[in-house]
Amino acid sequence: MTGVFVTGTDTGVGKTVVACAIVRALRADGFDVGVMKPCETGVGPDGPLDAIALRDAAGAKDDLALICPQQFAMPAAPTVAASAEGRSVDLDAIRAAYAGLCSAHGFVVSEGAGGLLVPLAKGFTMADFAQELRLPVIIVARAALGTINHTLLTLEAAARRDLDVAGVVISHAGGPLGDSDAANLGSLTASLGARLIGIVPPLAPGAVPSSDAIDLRALRSPSH
Ligand SMILES: Nc1ncnc2c1ncn2[C@@H]1O[C@H](COP(=O)(O)OP(=O)(O)O)[C@@H](O)[C@H]1O
Ligand SMILES: [Mg+2]
Repeated sequence: MTGVFVTGTDTGVGKTVVACAIVRALRADGFDVGVMKPCETGVGPDGPLDAIALRDAAGAKDDLALICPQQFAMPAAPTVAASAEGRSVDLDAIRAAYAGLCSAHGFVVSEGAGGLLVPLAKGFTMADFAQELRLPVIIVARAALGTINHTLLTLEAAARRDLDVAGVVISHAGGPLGDSDAANLGSLTASLGARLIGIVPPLAPGAVPSSDAIDLRALRSPSH
């Protein structure tokens, strides 16, 4: 096993929270974990906040330029944010950084931007990145209404591209659910069955998921 790619059904669904939880769990198991946010957009004066959160979770000393080789100011899809600066996303810089992180660490957790079909570069999606690097993917899904469709669409897109889905994690990013949202989520969890590998309940500000919130056995299996 070399790594995992954390994607989501959307932006703002809990990818960073879940990726950091995975990093902490793997570290607790003794892995030397590297982290990557191949492209971060919406980067302001405080730097790439997802990449910084991942680095903190990993306790890694790697340069932020290696963890997050492509950074853009506009909070938009990578191709859009790059174009706003008269630039394009440098895929080779991302590939080189990933190779560097792999040689420095036993396992690399990468967090995508947005969902699987977001364009990372012209004609190249987040799904293409996971496919090129042969990384199993973890799909983070929201708990609230709309999640059945988004989650099943994402699973279908992953299957069409022969991506190896290690599992789905539901994060309660919107806080506690009302009755109808809870019933709706129950329908999704029933249809996911064993593909559901974790649920992150509503967290208090600043809190992190408990170490057993996500079942990482799928990542530890020999095929990964
Ligand atoms: N289980 C949860 N409980 C409470 N807040 C959450 C939970 N999961 C995510 N959030 C919050 O929701 C927001 C979006 O989460 P984040 O991990 O940044 O999403 P993404 O990386 O998919 O954009 C953040 O403010 C995060 O702290
Ligand atoms: Mg994020």
